[in-house]
Amino acid sequence: ATTLRAAAVEKGRYFGTAVAASRLGDSTYTRILNTEFGSVTAENEMKWDATEPSRGTFNYSSGDRILAQAQANGQLVRGHALAWHSQMPGWAQSLSGSTLRSAMLNHITQVATHYRGKIHSWDVVNEAFADDGRGSRRNSILQQTGNDWIEAAFRAARAADPSARLCYNDYNTDGVNAKSTAVYNMVVDFKARGVPIDCVGFQSHLTNSAPGDYQANLQRFANLGVDVQITELDISGSGQADAYATVTKACLAVSRCTGITVWGIRDSDSWRTGANPLLFDANGNKKAAYTAVLNALNGG
Ligand code: G3I
Repeated sequence: ATTLRAAAVEKGRYFGTAVAASRLGDSTYTRILNTEFGSVTAENEMKWDATEPSRGTFNYSSGDRILAQAQANGQLVRGHALAWHSQMPGWAQSLSGSTLRSAMLNHITQVATHYRGKIHSWDVVNEAFADDGRGSRRNSILQQTGNDWIEAAFRAARAADPSARLCYNDYNTDGVNAKSTAVYNMVVDFKARGVPIDCVGFQSHLTNSAPGDYQANLQRFANLGVDVQITELDISGSGQADAYATVTKACLAVSRCTGITVWGIRDSDSWRTGANPLLFDANGNKKAAYTAVLNALNGG
């Protein structure tokens, strides 16, 4: 196949990108978006601060624009993110304890209900683990509402949208390490106790290369009976094209790796300013990394 989206479909996967609503008027951007990508994730527009700017008042305008343009172009939509300590609106940041817990659960219920039946996979909880090398939970105000906040979030999301795949999503979990093992143990526990979880997202914000045990890490999660997805892929540095090929081949080698999302289209669209970590240059031209991904998708 000659596009990322078609090549991925031939392998039973999706290939997606993060999308910013503010760029949808850029014709180069939308041409590449609709030609090359079969799935979209709102980069910011479905987050808590965007969708519930004041308590109980919901604003879906930008998220709905992204959804509508995806539906018009036959693309899947990943929802991102229902519960995250970052990009919480100011009113929620000022809450704590049971009041914050209730506000979080209401937020999840409202947003997942608004998008019910339209979202392929939701990042229900994002970045809840710390980078302390011990696999601790991140000490956020959400965590301070009680250690069971993650499972409460997943149960609320399942009740609101039973057809969406419900994912836990994090970064620095791309190889086998203390943080990814803590997430792994949480999935083991959730599966044992019947807490609804369907997938784990590996953000994969990488530099130079993928961890040597990248595929093995995906596989150990898949072996627990959850899907795995590469959710925010971008790679800076010297080994860029090779690392993109490695990640793509790893996903194809794991039958429960259902798709890959890159975190933006052109280097100039990336949150990693100056890192040039994406598949298209600022002019929208395909980079060596693009060819490496396409060839990997077409291989085998
Ligand atoms: O929309 C406002 C604009 O009105 C204002 O003038 C401008 C001034 O700074 O800010 C704009 O908001 C920015 C927003 O992106 C939209 O561009 C925020 O400041 C900025 O913080 C925000 O950054 C986003 C970041 O998440 C926030 O944590 C990035 O675009 C987005 O790529 C990034 O994505 C995260 C994933 O959600 C989770 N995983 C990590 C990943 C990278 O940080």
